[in-house]
Amino acid sequence: MYSYLILQNPGHNRVYYNLAAELALAELTIASERFNTECKNLSVKEIKGVRYINVQTESELSEQDIDTVSRLSFVFAIYREEERDGVSYLTPVAATNYHYIDDKISSLQKYQGKTNELFTKMMINVALLSSDFDYTDEINLLDPVAGRGTTLFEATVYGFNACGIEIEPKPVTDANLFFKKFIEAERYKHRSDKRQVYGRNKSEAIYISEFEYAKTKDLFKDEDNRKVLGLINGNSSDTDKYFKRNSFNLIVGDLPYGIAHGNTTVNRGSGTRNPSELLNSCAPAWSKVLKQGGTVVLAWNSFVASRQRLTQIFESNGFTVLNTEAYNRFEHMVDKSIKRDIIVAKKN
Ligand SMILES: C[S@@+](CC[C@H](N)C(=O)[O-])C[C@H]1O[C@@H](n2cnc3c(N)ncnc32)[C@H](O)[C@@H]1O
Repeated sequence: MYSYLILQNPGHNRVYYNLAAELALAELTIASERFNTECKNLSVKEIKGVRYINVQTESELSEQDIDTVSRLSFVFAIYREEERDGVSYLTPVAATNYHYIDDKISSLQKYQGKTNELFTKMMINVALLSSDFDYTDEINLLDPVAGRGTTLFEATVYGFNACGIEIEPKPVTDANLFFKKFIEAERYKHRSDKRQVYGRNKSEAIYISEFEYAKTKDLFKDEDNRKVLGLINGNSSDTDKYFKRNSFNLIVGDLPYGIAHGNTTVNRGSGTRNPSELLNSCAPAWSKVLKQGGTVVLAWNSFVASRQRLTQIFESNGFTVLNTEAYNRFEHMVDKSIKRDIIVAKKN
């Protein structure tokens, strides 16, 4: 039996760190389904006051397994553990460097209503690991409730193409400005463009602001090597009007919480703060733009909509909601009015 200890990322948010052990175990359980070796006894282990996530395996973790572990949202350092005479000896295991863009990108901005970046990364991992796709595939991700872009920026770290839809204009402008400044400062070769994606006349025109970028000038020369980040100021219930069928491998978003900064879309269409009403109006369109074997992962406030209701909506739109034990371990209190959970639905 082999034993690995994973030191958790201390994160930027104490509240999040304290509840993160349970979320880490759920994320690791889902990841372990893909390992080349069988995993046993996923647990929390404390050694001299330091908390680790412990995983025991039948054989040594392969390079591919270490690559998967390295990407998990809570991972700070990985060790092989050997116990001799009741004492644990830890040998560091080199994590894979998978970053296409520096992961500081999503921690630089602070604003009200921002989704925690480690939590966001976890949702992206859960989406990918529950889908029929691999990290090495060309992945197109959509955040249909993008805010100021945390999901999109986390996706760029993986080298995924990322598009967002956000109903309020200001967060879209802010996210565009931020990304432009960031890739300029990091010296990525890029070009940006704004083009119409929908509308027969000026008054109903909807635009996408799109960046194409690559790490180096040489890579940028070949269009196939370019990555894309796009943002639309529009209504997510019209997703299928903005994008072609089967455009995305993953859809990941943090729904409005049904409180303060919820969906205040009176003049733009959907007019609801309730996550289940929003899902109901968007699921048919999302199902069209998602590839078969692709997944939707949504975070929502379970005080204002039940898992059962969201499941019904997904299932009546051609999705299967994943329901094994690990998928039911994500619910946690954020504050007095928000009990956050995530739901994972796969397109049949
Ligand atoms: C919880 S916030 C997302 C925050 C984002 N993850 C971030 O870190 O910046 C939910 C967002 O959904 C947007 N939204 C609500 N209804 C929408 C709709 N019908 N279409 C597109 N966006 C919508 C809200 O304006 C809000 O910005």
